[in-house]
Order: sequence, then C-alpha cells, then structure tokens
Amino acid sequence: MAEKKRILTGDTPTGKLHLGHWVGSVENRVAMQAEYDCYFIIANKHAFTTRADRPEDIRQSVIEIATDYLACGIDPQRSAMFIQSEVPAIDELTFYFSMLIPFNRVMRNPTLKDEIRDKGLGDNYPFGFPLYAVGQCADILAFRPQLVPVGEDQLPHLELSREVARRFDQMYCGVDPHTEDKDYVKAGGLFPIIEPKLGRVKRLVGTGAPSAETGELLKMSKSLNNAIFLSDDADTVQKKIMGMYTDPKRVRATDPGETDPEKNPLWAYHETFNPDTAWVDEHREMYKAGKVGDVAVKRKLVEVINTLIDPIRSKRKQYEQRPDDVIDALRLGTQKANAVAEETLHLAKQALKQDYFGKRALSLR
Ligand code: TRP
Repeated sequence: MAEKKRILTGDTPTGKLHLGHWVGSVENRVAMQAEYDCYFIIANKHAFTTRADRPEDIRQSVIEIATDYLACGIDPQRSAMFIQSEVPAIDELTFYFSMLIPFNRVMRNPTLKDEIRDKGLGDNYPFGFPLYAVGQCADILAFRPQLVPVGEDQLPHLELSREVARRFDQMYCGVDPHTEDKDYVKAGGLFPIIEPKLGRVKRLVGTGAPSAETGELLKMSKSLNNAIFLSDDADTVQKKIMGMYTDPKRVRATDPGETDPEKNPLWAYHETFNPDTAWVDEHREMYKAGKVGDVAVKRKLVEVINTLIDPIRSKRKQYEQRPDDVIDALRLGTQKANAVAEETLHLAKQALKQDYFGKRALSLR
C-alpha cells in the first residue's frame, strides 16, 4: 500500500478555538484526515513569546485546544495531535535553520509586523519573538509534509519555510539552485518545498469595530476580544452576535449599492456560515434597500451559528468529563510525532555532518 501523504499544521494555544480557526483551517483538517497522514501541532512554546509570565494559562490553553480538536472531529487514532515542547527534534532543527536566514529577513515577515502592531508590542518583545518564526519552519519541516493547511496570515511563515528548505537542500544536500520547487526531494534534497493550502475563508473578521489606526476590520482573535468560540454556549453566541459591530454607513459611499463584507462582519458571517444562500442573497438586497434591519439579520445569524456549533459543543462537554482521554490522545499523537521528527533530525544531522554517534545516540534521551 502506498504511504499516505503527510500534512502538518496547528495552532498556538492562546485560548479556545473560535470560528476563525474553524473556517480558516480546522474544517479542512477534519476533512483531510481520511486522505492524509495528519500531524497537528499545539505550539505551546510559541505562546511563551507573549505570555512567558503565565505558564499556567498556557498549560490550560493546550488542554483547551486539544479538547476542541477532539470535539471538532479530529480522530486521535488516525491523526496525531501533539505538543510542540515534547518533540525536542524541532528545537534542534530550529537552531540550524536559524543560521540559514538573515535576521533582517525574519523581521521583514509581515505576520510578525502585524502581530507587533496589533498586540501593541512596540519594541518591547523578547528575543524569542522573532525566533518563533524560524521555529515554525522547524515545526513544519520536521515532518517533511506535502501540504500545510493554514489561514492566510500564516503564508509569510510558510514562505520562510520554503526559503529555509531550499537553502538547506542546496547547502547540505547538493541540490542545484535552478531546481524547480517541486523537484527538490527528487534532486536529493531532504526537505520538500512545501505548499500552503488555504481554507475556504482566508481571513475571518472579528465581531468588533475596525481598527482606529487602519480602518480595517481586525481578524478574529482571542487577544483582540472579538471572537466567537466553538465552545461558547447558545446564550453567549446570541449575546455576542446581537452586540456585534455593523457598518454604520451600511452602504459604502464609494461602492454604491454594495454592502462591503470587509466593512460589515454581519454579512461576512452570513456569507461564510449560512448554508441558505438564497436567504442571504435576498436579505442582502433588502438590507441594502433599508427594508430589513440589523436585528433581524443578527437573529438569523444566531440560529445559523448555533446550528453549526451545537454538535461540537455537545461533543466537547463529553470530553470535558474525561480529561484523561484528552491526555491519552495527546500522548499517542506526541509519540507518533516524535517518530517522524527524530527520523528527520537524524537525516538532517547526516547532511550537516554532525552525526558523530550514528542513530543509536538518539536512544540516549
Ligand atoms: N503560528 C500558528 C498560529 O499562530 C501556529 C503554528 C505553529 C503553526 N507552528 C505551525 C501553523 C506550523 C502551521 C504550521 O496559528
């Protein structure tokens, strides 16, 4: 039987999963389990970039995310969900990779810049903050995956992974720099030049008002306090949606007759989550014409969102009663992840000429 292709993706544990995670990536992951050998990383060390003073919160978030994965339908027998810090090969690779990328190149990463701006970090971020971007290359490449399903905001990190892989393969595996990306492994490279796979919605906006600075609606994010969580109860969903920001102008002056979903999360959400497209089209027209108000459209959205997350919520309740099952799933996934990552590290050390003791050295851990 041919081996299944591998995918690797994951989340930084900053809290529970929300609707943005769902349409950006989690929905995809659940669907891809049948076809791919899946690895889902819970990037707990990345959480230390901004919360090093709150280790207990990070620990709690890891458990929350794992519980959310299981509630969403990640099957721990088929897919490996694992804890980043328990896979030491990733750290070892990070160190070598960090030598292949100029510091200024890392700092040009727009995702880092956005994070610094949106979280108001100024120049007050730790040394490990930019390092996490290199670490993410190792998260990915340790698994030598064919595909990396992510939201749009992760594309700069994936581009960096592609650069690191090309450099490593050229420098240590003798791959000709003119080789096409898809042929690097065939040409003797250890690392594939990975491809992103975007979710059905690239960037889901939050429930809050646009940024005072840029005028853009901000991405849904726990830290921006604008998220609807997959674990929110029905009343909370209702409260969040009924109190959600809507475009006060309704119709953008520059775009007569068009509501702009980028400016109005209400329609962005209906377009994303409401399966009744006829209802959405009809009511969007009525909304534009002022024949239906925010309240009615919001009420409908409450119904739609609660229908989506009801089954997730009830499955989550079951797992909350069985915390040991969550830990067991993480343990099993972490074991599987270590097997692959150790193999990659071994091959990388050979390429780097730093394999002094052969494979047996690995068992000394
Ligand atoms: N940076 C990602 C996020 O914040 C999480 C992550 C860490 C990740 N390592 C990864 C995603 C590797 C994809 C692949 O959501």
